[in-house]
Amino acid sequence: MATTRLCTLEGDLPGARLRSATGCTSEVYRHGAHVASWRDADGEDIIFLSSEAVFKPPKAIRGGIPLCFPQFSDLGPLAQQHGFARNEQWQLVDPPANGDEDGGNVTMRLVSSDATKALWPHDFVADFSARLEGDEMHTSLTVRNTDREPFEFTVALHTYFAVGDIAHATVEGLRGASYLDSLDGRREKVDECEAVAFAKEVDRIYRNTPDVLTVRDDANDRSIVVQKTNLPDAVVWNPWVDKCAKTGDLGDGDYKSFLCVEAAATSTPVVVRPGAEWTCGQVLRVVKTPK
Ligand code: BG6
Repeated sequence: MATTRLCTLEGDLPGARLRSATGCTSEVYRHGAHVASWRDADGEDIIFLSSEAVFKPPKAIRGGIPLCFPQFSDLGPLAQQHGFARNEQWQLVDPPANGDEDGGNVTMRLVSSDATKALWPHDFVADFSARLEGDEMHTSLTVRNTDREPFEFTVALHTYFAVGDIAHATVEGLRGASYLDSLDGRREKVDECEAVAFAKEVDRIYRNTPDVLTVRDDANDRSIVVQKTNLPDAVVWNPWVDKCAKTGDLGDGDYKSFLCVEAAATSTPVVVRPGAEWTCGQVLRVVKTPK
């Protein structure tokens, strides 16, 4: 039976624990509507949470699936990298009944406030849902324009995938795609490689990618398939040794244990008209490598 339990998580922060009928589990914080963990039925982490993650709002939790909204990186008018959604407290929508058979899912809402309007002067309602469906993790974000003028934003589901060894992890599906290299002044390049491998820092914004990408995690004999919807771009990031060491809420060696594939809409900002809404999402699925 799939279940959802409202509870107190790390740092005494409120959230929900989800469990699928197949025994997968997840923790979702109201702080940032942040999916901080997703484990398979054997208790293995599929998404990565930093060993030094800080659970003190408004600081964003390092790892999991931070929501970058209404801006990805510095691609927009906000001074704040990745926008403010990951720093805000979200409300629960229709709190699930504990032990409900229809459980395994939670929806959280962020409504514009004086604080968000000081950063981004628009009225909106954003709903984020996380659902465990068997061995899959489904997430979606819907943004409704409750303002009188159209607004635009960039956005990303900034997923940190746990890998057994970064030296034996790759991202497939991007061959032939063009990307902006954030480590080279955002110069446009074309990826000619079979798969993205990691032997140094990588920080790339791939544009108009296929909707299905695969994270190969050979050290764990598995792949994670990412199926994204309405998010044309994909950011691939690993901080490698130096940036990892400089990032206070990452452990020194943590760069070996994760890579980010961020389903995103960055190159063309999303425009939402007054009264209209826009939805995006991703489905993550683990595929074990046959022995
Ligand atoms: C990635 C960016 O999306 O997020 C990187 O491409 C950035 O440039 C990384 O370093 C982490 O950002 P933050 O704000 O969570 O430290």
